[in-house]
Amino acid sequence: MRIRREQPSDRPDVLRVVHEAFEGGPDEPGEVALTRALFDDPGYIPEFSLVAVVSGDVAGCVIGTRGYIGDTPAVGIAPLAVARAHQRRAVGSALMWALIGAAQARHEPALVLLGENAYYERFDFAPASRNGIEAPVASWGQHFQALVLTDDPVAGRFRYAAAFGL
Ligand SMILES: CC(C)(COP(=O)(O)OP(=O)(O)OC[C@H]1O[C@@H](n2cnc3c(N)ncnc32)[C@H](O)[C@@H]1OP(=O)(O)O)[C@@H](O)C(=O)NCCC(=O)NCCS
Repeated sequence: MRIRREQPSDRPDVLRVVHEAFEGGPDEPGEVALTRALFDDPGYIPEFSLVAVVSGDVAGCVIGTRGYIGDTPAVGIAPLAVARAHQRRAVGSALMWALIGAAQARHEPALVLLGENAYYERFDFAPASRNGIEAPVASWGQHFQALVLTDDPVAGRFRYAAAFGL
């Protein structure tokens, strides 16, 4: 497996992987439209849009976009997606560790996401409220999680990139 930055030519494959990972009914999952919108969002950060390539095929992807905790820049992660045939083979973990490493290298103070606690705690994410970081939607509760990478205080309400429509 190789983790690398997403290239514009990967985008059809990225959309396919997101579709496959999130599909649950006849309609296109909302995450596909979100991903398309993120590619055009001013908050899109190419260094934080990664793909996992297995035997020449895009098997997974993760996107981190510019958001803000109060006035402090931070990274909002979504989507993280792994094609069904490649799930449970550490592709998601490799993408997450690569993104966390890239964020540390760029001195990003924090990463946030909405997701299952049981999955993201392995990357040291914890409910954001424990760090005084508020979800944009209160009902997300403990599923809104943060990984704080700085010793400086970061607290306040998180604002996602415009494409999230929140
Ligand atoms: C969630 C997802 C990204 C994980 O990717 P992956 O490559 O399959 O994960 P990894 O191989 O790195 O890790 C596998 C572990 O994660 C666990 N896991 C996978 N999905 C999980 C979930 N939704 N909740 C809790 N644990 C989960 C597996 O049980 C497995 O645990 P184990 O290591 O104890 O056996 C992938 O399953 C996926 O794309 N799912 C559909 C889309 C989605 O839910 N995206 C995340 C949005 S929050």
